[in-house]
Amino acid sequence: MTTDIKNKMQIRKAIFKQSASNIKECPKPTLPEFAFIGRSNVGKSSLINMLCNNNKLAKTSATPGKTQLINHFLINEHWYLVDLPGYGFAKTSKTSRTKFETIIYDYCKKRDTLVCLFVLIDSRLPLQKIDLEFMQWCGETDIPFSIIYTKADKNSKSHLAQNVKNIEKELLSHWEELPNSFISSAETKTGKDDILEFIDYLIKENNVN
Ligand code: GTP
Ligand code: MG
Repeated sequence: MTTDIKNKMQIRKAIFKQSASNIKECPKPTLPEFAFIGRSNVGKSSLINMLCNNNKLAKTSATPGKTQLINHFLINEHWYLVDLPGYGFAKTSKTSRTKFETIIYDYCKKRDTLVCLFVLIDSRLPLQKIDLEFMQWCGETDIPFSIIYTKADKNSKSHLAQNVKNIEKELLSHWEELPNSFISSAETKTGKDDILEFIDYLIKENNVN
């Protein structure tokens, strides 16, 4: 038990490294990274802050469309968490929507050091077409991804369980198996240990640390 606690992945240091408006401006691809993607307002930036115990690290907002650049956060001096702009924000003009989508798709496809993309899905809603399409694109493009259901605190336990079950059922009508998934809340810190443990496992498995 003591050993478990000692070996548990802890974020000791999290610093904002830089913002980039395209993949060429990103930090040199020398460290493993884990990126957060999903619809605008789903809670990507809040989740990064929750994992890092620092509510001021990534900028959050109740208004969708807050994160507009690729933001790298250097963790424990060894790996990156990456906050991405959201997709599917209806109020953005078509031009800027295309711009964000180009940034996102380019980053996901070309960033060699991306170990795992976390696709965030609002745990209160039925599976949204845009999320399904994005995950299908990840599958076709061979981009490794996991799902994180967000805002679990805004649900009753039974609604949460039923909704996740419905989403999984629908995913299984398209795919043979489900990706790894986590349930999270930036408010209550649900999912924190499991997500960090998974990242730790992937870093060790990739033997890049
Ligand atoms: P964009 O950068 O605009 O794409 O949004 P985002 O996905 O980064 O969302 P953000 O983290 O900015 O959160 C959007 C809103 O949802 C904010 O008002 C957050 O406080 C709220 N929020 C995020 N996560 C949670 C959560 O787990 N529980 C609750 N209750 N609210 C949350
Ligand atoms: Mg954001």
